[in-house]
Amino acid sequence: MEKDAKVAVTEYREQRQERIRTALHGPERREVNDVAARPRRAEEPWARAPVEYEWMTKRADVGGGSEFLRQADRCRAMGSPFVASVLEAVDRQLSRAPITAAMISGWEGDPAAAAIAMRFNGALNALARRGAPASLASLYNGEHDDFDGAIAEALAGQDSFIANWLTHPPQTNEVARAGAIVAALLTARARWDMPFELLDLGSSAGLNLNLARYAYRLGSVSVGDPESPVRVAPLWRGPSPPVAPLEIVSARGVDLQPLDVSNPDHRERLLSFAWADQQGRYKRLEAALQVASAHPPQVDQGDAATWLAERLEQPQPEGRGRAVIHTMFLQYLSDEDRRRIDETLDEAGAKACDQRPLARISFEWTPDRGRVELRLTQWPTGSTRVLAICHPYGDWLEWQPSR
Ligand SMILES: C[S@@+](CC[C@H](N)C(=O)[O-])C[C@H]1O[C@@H](n2cnc3c(N)ncnc32)[C@H](O)[C@@H]1O
Repeated sequence: MEKDAKVAVTEYREQRQERIRTALHGPERREVNDVAARPRRAEEPWARAPVEYEWMTKRADVGGGSEFLRQADRCRAMGSPFVASVLEAVDRQLSRAPITAAMISGWEGDPAAAAIAMRFNGALNALARRGAPASLASLYNGEHDDFDGAIAEALAGQDSFIANWLTHPPQTNEVARAGAIVAALLTARARWDMPFELLDLGSSAGLNLNLARYAYRLGSVSVGDPESPVRVAPLWRGPSPPVAPLEIVSARGVDLQPLDVSNPDHRERLLSFAWADQQGRYKRLEAALQVASAHPPQVDQGDAATWLAERLEQPQPEGRGRAVIHTMFLQYLSDEDRRRIDETLDEAGAKACDQRPLARISFEWTPDRGRVELRLTQWPTGSTRVLAICHPYGDWLEWQPSR
């Protein structure tokens, strides 16, 4: 009997650990960088794209229901069951945080468009990372699965912290998007055999300015620094990009509110907005921050349209290409600013020549927000090509054959 009881307790513990592990990492969660663990074609993630797109486009439609439950469904569909369970518990326990609850119920504008649930998720992740309260930290560490208990305690004890955190929009810097940018740079380099300088619009912390310091596997092409702790290997469909050197001579960016990688509070904010059960993204972000502490990205504080006009007024030396890049940035601009940037590039493009070529590389939603496209415009000709259809975070790319 005693032995049976021990077996039963062990089995119960194992099952409980498995439930927690599944909640944290998902039953089929795979490490994107792990080529051997890539899903087979039938399971390929673009099959889930519409759900992801729906989340990423933040189509608001809040109606009377809870934004937390709506977002929880989307997180679960995106393979983040732990974040989904957190948001469901927040929905049940919100009254424990009266300041925050009042703030949300009186939210001016559309809470879905403001990504309120993602702000909340960032606040709780930040608290868990600080170990406050301990029950929240142990929930995030997979030591128990009492979501309601831990989140109720956090909401009751950290109401002011959470309310304050919600006043800031989520600010992220997605390193995996560098894979798409590098594939476009290889395409430009295949046309002009010369090194490039980068000008990045909406850089956030500027982690993608260090893209030449990362290691890539892009289809069948390996490029970058093979010793780098940052590895970017998106799931790849279609032909590989051209084989060409990745040679960046300088990289500079601009952001309205740059995050400073040497500031511990800024680093912590970036890490807190990564989803707790997306370990691949988390680890890559940590590794990129490590690279950035040795090689701080140069990000100017300012408005991109004005900054770009000033930069492009100065011609680059002969024998050097110039690439203006932007990833998930245009959606934040007014029509007027988007037009200013287009015009500035057209004017600079008119002065470009084969000894001083100009490229625009954009990783952005299409205007109807149906999909994310990687586009390359090259001057002196001014021709544009859609190079790839991409996952919004850069997890996968579908490379388009050249016509
Ligand atoms: C979604 S983030 C993308 C950051 C980064 N490009 C990436 O892909 O990870 C958009 C960034 O654009 C910046 N931004 C928005 N409007 C801007 C403007 N007019 N000028 C410069 N930066 C701007 C925001 O501050 C934010 O850091």
